[in-house]
Amino acid sequence: MIKPGKILPPVAALGAGVLLGLWLFGGGGDGGSEISLTSNPLFQGSEGLGFAAQQSTGQRIIVTDGQSIQAAVNSASPGDVIQVYPGTYRETVYIDKDSITLTGVVVEGEWPTLDGGGTLNDAFLYSGDNITIENFRITHYKGNGVMGQAGNNFVIRGNVIIDAGIYGIFPQFGRNGLVAHNLLTGIADAAIYIGMSDNVDVLHNEVHGNVAGIEIENSRHVLVEGNIAYDNTGGILVFITPGLPIKTTYDVIVRGNFVFENNHENFGAPGSIVANIPPGTGIMVMAGDDVVIENNIIRDNDNVGILITSLDILKQVSNDPDSEPNSDNVAILDNLMLNNGANPVGALKALMLANLQTRGPDILDTGGGTGKCILNAGRYRTLLMAEYANCDEAAKTTRSIRSMTLDQPVTGSVYAEDAMRENIGMRSWYAICSACHAYDIQLIGPSVQDIQAIYADDPGALADYIFSPIKVRDDAPEMPPQDYLTIETRRAVADFALAMEN
Ligand code: HEC
Repeated sequence: MIKPGKILPPVAALGAGVLLGLWLFGGGGDGGSEISLTSNPLFQGSEGLGFAAQQSTGQRIIVTDGQSIQAAVNSASPGDVIQVYPGTYRETVYIDKDSITLTGVVVEGEWPTLDGGGTLNDAFLYSGDNITIENFRITHYKGNGVMGQAGNNFVIRGNVIIDAGIYGIFPQFGRNGLVAHNLLTGIADAAIYIGMSDNVDVLHNEVHGNVAGIEIENSRHVLVEGNIAYDNTGGILVFITPGLPIKTTYDVIVRGNFVFENNHENFGAPGSIVANIPPGTGIMVMAGDDVVIENNIIRDNDNVGILITSLDILKQVSNDPDSEPNSDNVAILDNLMLNNGANPVGALKALMLANLQTRGPDILDTGGGTGKCILNAGRYRTLLMAEYANCDEAAKTTRSIRSMTLDQPVTGSVYAEDAMRENIGMRSWYAICSACHAYDIQLIGPSVQDIQAIYADDPGALADYIFSPIKVRDDAPEMPPQDYLTIETRRAVADFALAMEN
C-alpha cells in the first residue's frame, strides 16, 4: 500500500499512453494502490500528444484529504507525478516549475475537489512548461479554475469546473497545448479561453451555462473539435481583442461540434468583451482570419447560428492600428443548421424588422473582409452574404488535419522571446495582467492609459495596489490580489505598465 505523503520510486519513461491511461482509469479504482499502466489506444494519436511523451519520468507523490497539494508541488522536481486522492482541498496551487503532472484520482465516484469557498481567486496557476492538470473537480473560485501564465506544452483534461469565476480554463500566452474532456459550467466570462496562444487543440469538452462557452482569442493554429456547447450566451467564439500584444487570430478550425440553445442571458462583467455577445449566438467570428467552420450541428440558437463580424460591433473603441478589424478568408462548409433565429435581439432584430421579418437567420455577416466562401449557401437562411463565393470544398476542407499541436515540446515564448526572458515585468504583464487590462480600452479592468494617469510616476504605489487591491470602481468587479508575485516582480510589472506606449 502507498502511504499518504510518501514519495515513491521513479516511474521512469512512462509515455503519453500511460498518462492517458491514468486519465481514463484514475490510477486505479481499487483504492489507488498502483498506477494503471493500461492505455487506451482510442485516444492515442487522435489528440496530438506527441509532445507529452516526455512527461512523468520522476517520482510519484501522493496527496490525500487533509494534506496540501501546494506542499506536494513545493517538494516536487521536474518529471514528478503528483497523485491527489478524493477530499476537499481549500487552496490555490501555484506551479512555477517545469514538467509536473498533477493527476486527480477518482475513487468510486469520489473526486479530489479544490474548493475556493467563494473567497480564493484561483485553483491552479501554472507558469512552468510541460504541466499536466487532470481529473480535478474545481468549484467556488472567484478568478480562474486553471490559468496558464506563459507555460508551453500544457495538458488540461478530465476536469469538472463549476462556478469558478471569470475564466474556467485559461491558458494565456502559451504554445502547444491540449484542453480536452473537461466539463465547465457557471463561468462569468469564457469557460474555455485560449488567450494569446499558438498550436492548441480544444477537444471533446462540454460547456454550458457560461457567458462564452469556448473562446479563441488572439491565438493562432487552433483546432476546436467535438465539443458540446449549449445554454451559453455564445457557444464558440473566435475573436481578436484589440490592444493586446498578440494582434492576430488566424488558422482556426471549428469542426464537428454540437452548438445548440445558446440563449443564456449575458451575465458578463460590464465592459468585458464578452458583454458584447448577443444572447442566442451559436458561433461567432470577430476579426478572425482563415477560419474554417465545418461539420458542426448548430441548432436552436435564438439570435443567429453563425455570426461573422468585425471589431466595429464592439462598444469599446480601440485605436490599435495593428489589429485588422475584419474577418477574412472565412470558409463555412457543410454544417447542419436548424431552427436558429427564433428570437433575434438588438441590432439584428431591428435589421430583420426592416426586412419585414421577425426571425433571425442561420448565418449573418455584418460586412467587411475578403476571401470568404460558403458551401451550398442555398441550404441555409442567410443574411447579407452577397460577398461570399461558393467554397471549393476540396481546397478548403480540413479533413486531413488531425491536430494543431506540435510533435515536439517547445520552449520560449509566443512573443519576443529574448526581450521576454530578460524582462520579468513584460513577461508578467503579458502573462497575467493583459487578461484583464488592454492598452486603450476597458476590458475587465481599466485601460493601461487610465492606470498610467492614476499612477504616473509612482510604480511603488501601483505595486502595492496589486498586492492587496481595494474596490475602486462601481462598474468593475474587484481585482484579484497578485500577492503570489514577489515584490521584485510587482515592481517590475509596475515599471513596465507605466512605460507602455501601445
Ligand atoms: C482577472 C482580472 C484582472 C487581472 C488578471 C489583473 N487586473 Fe488589475 N484590475 C482589474 C479590475 C477589475 C480592476 C478595477 C478594480 C476596481 O476599480 O475596483 C483593476 C484595477 C487595476 C488598477 C487600478 C487601481 C486603481 O487605483 O484604480 C491597476 C493599477 C491594476 N489593476 C494593475 C494590474 C496589474 C499590474 C496586473 C497584473 C499583475 C493586474 N492588474 C491584473 C482586473 C484585473
